[in-house]
Amino acid sequence: MAAMMAQAAALADILELRMDLAPGVPLEPLLRNRPCPVIVTNRPVREGGEYAGEESARIALLQQGVDLGAEFVDVELDSAARIRRGPRTRLIISHHDFARTPDHVEEVHRHLVQAGADIAKFAVKANDILDNLRVLRVLRHTKHPTIALCMGELGVASRILGRKYGNFLTFASLAAGRESAPGQLTAGELRGLYRYKKIGPDTALYGVIANPVAHSMSPAIQNAAFEALGLNAVYLPFKVEGDPAEFVRAFRELDAQGYSVTLPHKQEVIAAMDEVDDTVRQAGAMNTVVNRGGRLCGANTDIPAALGAIEAALGVEGSAPSRALKDRETLIIGAGGAARAVACGLMARGAYVLIANRTQERAVALAREISAQAAPMERVGSLRPQILINTTSVGMWPNVEESPVPAAVLRKGMIVFDAVYNPPETRLLREAKAAGCQCISGVEWFVRQAALQCEMWTGRPAPRAVMEQVVMARLGRG
Ligand code: ATR
Repeated sequence: MAAMMAQAAALADILELRMDLAPGVPLEPLLRNRPCPVIVTNRPVREGGEYAGEESARIALLQQGVDLGAEFVDVELDSAARIRRGPRTRLIISHHDFARTPDHVEEVHRHLVQAGADIAKFAVKANDILDNLRVLRVLRHTKHPTIALCMGELGVASRILGRKYGNFLTFASLAAGRESAPGQLTAGELRGLYRYKKIGPDTALYGVIANPVAHSMSPAIQNAAFEALGLNAVYLPFKVEGDPAEFVRAFRELDAQGYSVTLPHKQEVIAAMDEVDDTVRQAGAMNTVVNRGGRLCGANTDIPAALGAIEAALGVEGSAPSRALKDRETLIIGAGGAARAVACGLMARGAYVLIANRTQERAVALAREISAQAAPMERVGSLRPQILINTTSVGMWPNVEESPVPAAVLRKGMIVFDAVYNPPETRLLREAKAAGCQCISGVEWFVRQAALQCEMWTGRPAPRAVMEQVVMARLGRG
């Protein structure tokens, strides 16, 4: 435990000694050699801890913490009256609910303050992303030193964002798998990825709306971009299980400056926008929210990102729409959302778009809707497009030996664009490269759409190289 304290002291300002997780460990030597201020906690099973022994012995250990002058002692609301105060110790009076966020969290908070808490602490389970709002509201409205947070995967936002609203502290684990409560981030993630220590009242809030969101690379990319630009901003993952429009409307009270929106919310979220631009109207889907002075504007950076990547391959990338794509024969494999976005963008540039898909009816339906053409999958082998774009997940890890088209289709000079970004070089791109095609990887598309979002939010050129490095590092790590 002493070794862990030394390790943690390099990352934290205060160490919590969870004595209930270390039964039999004597407190006195830990306190004598403490490398920084500590909280002494001895959590009973009824409040989510592991102490299952005599209540009087439990309280006695906390009392010892006070008597030895620990900076903080955490005592549960129902036991607070049993602790004799000491001159050097501030009492954290706490309440935990591992089942839900109670309807009236502000009442819970009031009870803690009335019980004489130097610092009031409540940790409650989030069952809905909107539970974060209720907990953060308490922080925003109280002047009393308070620790408030939501536990569980849905409560991660409160653990980070609390700092913006004056949270007295947040908890972090030393390493993944060593959490002392569900949803806790590691100290490394908080400090590195989320730049926790830089968060303050003026920090601008951004985030990604997705479900699932745990493996999203967007927080890593956008936070790295903000850091590189020197911006006081933080970008969080929001796991939205319900209606994304409802989430956006409810979260207006936090005045987020922008969101990325991804699967499966790119269409439903449109309902919460005050306006949308042409890209959204074209594709019927959006991936970006920009807050312009309180007006929420929807945009779709997937389309310009795809066009930008293709135009860069053609050597004509620029700010004005180029005519280089006019009449180019383009074959799109797939007929889902990604195919629709790419096809709409290419149609708007005057390209000749052919869509082929495993389920032929979907290709026909999409083609009809956007005035493109459909081709049966069996005919793909005999087509000679100038640009080939895979929008399906074929070839994606772990099925890395699959390719959406036979290698014979690939001809020298062709532009081959694979939307799959994991692995960065798919079998399709490997074979395309061998055939002398010009290749565009899904990583490039992904980074470009993220960079355009960053530019829309900040009005500054995005640090694309930094963003790409983050993606490649993540993919390299598997
Ligand atoms: P997205 O929004 O990412 O495009 P989607 O709407 O689910 O996702 O579309 C997935 C596309 O990949 C579809 O065109 C799908 O073909 P079907 O319409 O026949 O389902 C295609 N796809 C996915 N897995 C595939 C596979 N193993 N082989 C061929 N096509 C596949």
